Amino acid sequence: VVMGRAFVYVVLGGGVAAGYAALEFVKRGVSSGELCIISDEPFAPYERPALSKGYLLPEAPARLPSFHTCVGAHEERLTPKWYKEHGIELVLGTRVKSADVRRKTLLTATGETISYKFLIIATGARALKLEEFGVNGSDAENVCYLRDLADANRIVDVIHSSTGGNAVIIGGGYIGMECAASLVISKINVTMVFPEAHCMPRLFTPKIAAYYEEYYMAKGVTFIKGTVLSSFDIDFNGKVTAVNLRDGARLPADMVIVGIGIRPNTSLFEGQLTLEKGGIKVNGRMQTSNNSVYAVGDVAAFPVKLFGETRRLEHVDSARKSARHAVSAIMEPEKTGEFDYLPFFYSRVFALSWQFYGDNAGEAVHFGDFSGSKFGAFWVSKGHLVGSFLEGGTKEEYEAIAKATRLKPAIEDAAELERLGVDFALSV
Ligand code: FDA
Ligand code: NAD
Repeated sequence: VVMGRAFVYVVLGGGVAAGYAALEFVKRGVSSGELCIISDEPFAPYERPALSKGYLLPEAPARLPSFHTCVGAHEERLTPKWYKEHGIELVLGTRVKSADVRRKTLLTATGETISYKFLIIATGARALKLEEFGVNGSDAENVCYLRDLADANRIVDVIHSSTGGNAVIIGGGYIGMECAASLVISKINVTMVFPEAHCMPRLFTPKIAAYYEEYYMAKGVTFIKGTVLSSFDIDFNGKVTAVNLRDGARLPADMVIVGIGIRPNTSLFEGQLTLEKGGIKVNGRMQTSNNSVYAVGDVAAFPVKLFGETRRLEHVDSARKSARHAVSAIMEPEKTGEFDYLPFFYSRVFALSWQFYGDNAGEAVHFGDFSGSKFGAFWVSKGHLVGSFLEGGTKEEYEAIAKATRLKPAIEDAAELERLGVDFALSV
């Protein structure tokens, strides 16, 4: 017997984008029984950013249900009960193993066929493994990655058995920096190893990176830059005891966290939909090369109007807003225009907090007090302000840099911009 169910709307993936899509569907009057969300995680959608921050803290850690979507945008908190009350079918702990966009069906690992009229792909991304860089040992019990709640639970367990010991963090990006802070707070000695000359190389300038590195060093973190690991020493219990680096150094380790980037989960649709920049290509309505299929969040490569270019972003604000836009385009097509998105990234570690808007292209103009707690940078490209970074700002200041960046004002005098700093944004 072939089992099957049919829905008007199906969201494939149950992460951040799925949660915000559900909220938007309900706001636009979806009827009971029309919407289904399928996720291989056994939890209703939650705010993934909590996992590297509050979730890992030793005191009063964040736990579900407190961070289900959509608390991150000060919207209603969507608990499993909420989905039930709105007649939304949550199919959890269920992996979709194939998709047929011509037939408009998905096949789950449990053998069920789920058909749709409209599909929203929200499969997110997976963490890159060390094996993909030629190093073995990812399956050791104290080597951790961080993408989902199961990973975070594992890290919590490993932290508990490593108190007072040594952690080696591989990668100087978001995961590396945020986990390092959480481990320091849990009284673990942290060494960070990455190949670049400074942390957060995709976004930070050397000057911005130096500020954060010095702050971390004052908290006891050691940085080993310009090299990568070559192998692990593994004991007879299958636990890593040391990390060997390509430059010959050997770092004793009670635990390892790896954060070396992600790959979007596109494989179900390769050969069926057009791909670009490693993601699923969509238009300004988040619609893929197949009319009935939309893609949102980390997996979508969409036109960023402001830059006149297709980008794939890996940040929560983009997941939230692209999901809502797709639902709007599906349910009210005549009233929905092109997605006009201002990229927004942020992070919070220790007592620090920064926000970034726009594009880090062109020349960086730094401003503010780099020996204090409020500073930033503007990026100027082809005579216009295109990007803004601010550490330690107020709500008004963050709003001002966002607004200024969206307006792309002409910049004639970089020295004046440097002198004015945030005041420039407040005056735009
Ligand atoms: P997301 O990964 O959230 O969800 C995808 C879902 O699809 C998952 O539940 C997955 O299991 C499921 N899935 C995939 N394939 C499937 C299949 N075949 N069948 C069934 N289900 C399937 N950003 C930011 O701006 N600020 C921040 O502070 C942070 N912090 C942060 C911390 C950590 C630890 C991570 C991992 C990430 C962040 N991010 C972030 C990034 C942000 O969380 C990310 O951009 C969004 O979660 C993307 O949302 P999506 O819904 O696209 O994917
Ligand atoms: P990332 O792209 O931010 O950083 C990857 C880092 O890996 C690089 O900076 C580099 O230092 C390092 N690296 C690359 N190859 C390496 C190698 N062979 N050996 C050692 N190091 C190597 O990715 P991530 O930190 O893994 O984060 C994963 C995802 O989670 C990203 O999409 C990120 O946007 C998201 N995230 C975002 C936030 C935030 O926005 N605040 C927080 C956490 C996670």
